[in-house]
Amino acid sequence: MMKLKNFDPENFLRNYWQKKPLVIRQAFESFEQLIDPDELAGISCEEGSFSKIILEKNKKLEVMEGPFDPETYESTPESNWTLMVMEVDHWSETVAKLRDPFTFIPEWRMDDVSVSYAADSGTVGAHFDFYDVFIIQGIGRRRWQLESRARTLEECGPDHLVDGSDLKLVNDFHSSEEWILEEGDLLYIPPQWGHYGVSLGESISYSVGFRAPSIKEMVLSYVKSKLDLMSEDIFLEDPHRSFQGNSSEISALDSNCLVNWPEWLEKPSSNELNWFAELVTEPKRIQDLDEDSSDEEFSKEEIAHSVFVRNLDHRLAYFEENGEIRAYVDGKELSFARDLGDLIKVLFSKRELQGAEISKFLENEKALDLLQNLLGRGIFYRDSAD
Ligand SMILES: [Fe+2]
Repeated sequence: MMKLKNFDPENFLRNYWQKKPLVIRQAFESFEQLIDPDELAGISCEEGSFSKIILEKNKKLEVMEGPFDPETYESTPESNWTLMVMEVDHWSETVAKLRDPFTFIPEWRMDDVSVSYAADSGTVGAHFDFYDVFIIQGIGRRRWQLESRARTLEECGPDHLVDGSDLKLVNDFHSSEEWILEEGDLLYIPPQWGHYGVSLGESISYSVGFRAPSIKEMVLSYVKSKLDLMSEDIFLEDPHRSFQGNSSEISALDSNCLVNWPEWLEKPSSNELNWFAELVTEPKRIQDLDEDSSDEEFSKEEIAHSVFVRNLDHRLAYFEENGEIRAYVDGKELSFARDLGDLIKVLFSKRELQGAEISKFLENEKALDLLQNLLGRGIFYRDSAD
C-alpha cells in the first residue's frame, strides 16, 4: 500500500486543504513507478477510455480527443506534447493504489487518478481547475509555476480565458512561485489556483483529483427531494384579492397568496415576479406557427381601421417593475423598446382591440415593429373593420 511519509492529515486539512498549495518532497514511504508510457498509451487506445493529446504547434496548443489509434504514437514529435489519460485508476490496479494515501478525505469527494505523459517541454498550458488536486511526480521532472492566490469567480470567467481554446487557458497568468518536482514529490493545488506545468525532459505525473457538486446541483437535488414529498393538491389562494383595472397585469404576489408556501423555502419577495410571469403564461400546448400569423406589413391608416383579436392559444401577462413594464408571452419575456410600456398595457388589455385605440402610439416606429412582431407570431390576428 502506498503511504505518505511524515504526513499529518489533520495539520494538512487545517492549514492547506482548500486554502493554499503545498509541496512535499519525497512524500511517500516507498515510491514506486505505477505505469510506464507504453502502458498508458495502450489505455488511451481502449474504447471507453478518456484521453487527449495536447500538442504545441506554432506556440499554440492543439487538442486531440481519444481514444486513439496506436499509429497515432508513430507520428508524435520528439518534444512539446502531452498525453493525458483520465480515470486510469479504473484501468490499472497499480495506479488505483494511489487513491489509498488520500483516504483522509471522504471517498465521495474523490474523482479519479489521471496520468499524464509529457515529452520534453510538453505542457497543457497555464490554467486553473475547479477542483482540488494532488500532483505526484512519477518518472522524470516537471517545473510548476503557481499564482499567488486562488482566482475569484470573476477571474475564472470568460474575460480571463484565451479565446478559442478548449483547454480553458488563462490569458493573464502571473507566476509567483516555482517548483521543480522530482520523482516521488507531491504538489497540492487548491481549486481556482492558476498553475502551469512544463515537462523538463520526458516525464510522467499522476493527478489525484477531487470533485465537489456545484451549489446549483445541490440546491436542485435538495429541492427535488422536498418536492417528492409534497402534495400536488395545494394551490395558491387569493381570497383577499382587490379590484384591478387591467386583467393582464400581475399586480402583486403578496404574502397573502403564499399562505401555503413550504416552510423549508424562503418566500419570494412580492416584487420578484419574473418567475411567476413565466409560469402563469406557460402555454397549454406548444403551438406550431399559427395559420393566422401574418408577414403582411400594415400602414398606420390600415391599423387605425382594423380590429385586432387575440389568439387564445397564447398566454400574455405583464407586470410593472421600478416604473417599467415587463411583458411575457407563452412563458418567455417579450423584448420591446422601453418607451412602449403603455402600448403593451393597451394591447394586452382586451381580447378584441380597435385599431383606433392604439393609433396614437404609432408615431413611434418601434411601436409598429412590436405590433408586426405580435401579428407575425400569430398572437394577434387582424379582422378588417371595413
Ligand atoms: Fe490542472
